[in-house]
Amino acid sequence: MAMLTIALSKGRNFNETLPLLAAAGIAPAEDPETSRKLIIGSNRADVRFIIVRASDVPTYVQRGAADMGVAGKDVLLEHGGEGLYQPVDLGIGRCRMVVAAKASFDYEGALKRGARLSVATKYVTTAREHFAAKGMHVDLIKLYGSMELAPLVGLADAIVDLVSSGNTLKANDLVAVEEIMAISARLIVNPASLKLKRDTVQPVLDAIARSATGSGGTAGNASAASAAREPSSA
Ligand code: PRP
Repeated sequence: MAMLTIALSKGRNFNETLPLLAAAGIAPAEDPETSRKLIIGSNRADVRFIIVRASDVPTYVQRGAADMGVAGKDVLLEHGGEGLYQPVDLGIGRCRMVVAAKASFDYEGALKRGARLSVATKYVTTAREHFAAKGMHVDLIKLYGSMELAPLVGLADAIVDLVSSGNTLKANDLVAVEEIMAISARLIVNPASLKLKRDTVQPVLDAIARSATGSGGTAGNASAASAAREPSSA
């Protein structure tokens, strides 16, 4: 019996993934918020979870340490997505990637003047591509969290960050000045796992995809879906 390892991060994506897993008949044996364990069993002897940082999920799946995982589009864009099937937009963890600045900062004026802005972010790849597409020169400052602080203390003119409720921006007198893209979480799958452990992986993938599309997600990547169904040569 092949063991299926699913990589998840704690927090919102984990909680919103639970109903999708339940649709596949899978329930984690412990709550990662209270357990310190990094490998967690499930109600099925052939399914286990590993609990990793959100930004590490693609790495574990790409290298086959996990067979599948749930990762935000924000994380996948920074990772690059190489070596990963992304067959399902799960429609969970929805938020927006935006450029934000102090309410008093004239972002539009700075753009028109062609000013060289300093931008603090943890999403340097996404930010670089966004500003390059606009023909803007920016100095990117890599941060690992609490980006909202940067404009308040003069570290940067603006930030690129995720916004959900908008409460963090508001609490720090910042405003979204530009939307970069809508973000949601994707199911990601290791292609070799799909071939070698098809009997275990495929039904789980299908059940999650059905459940996700029934509640606002999209099983959009036709190539991955068909690749999943090609006869295995392995
Ligand atoms: C995210 C994001 C913002 C905040 C936005 O941080 O970076 O800081 O949530 O949410 P809101 O619009 O509902 O206030 P998160 O709490 O995920 O922590 P992080 O800084 O580790 O990413």
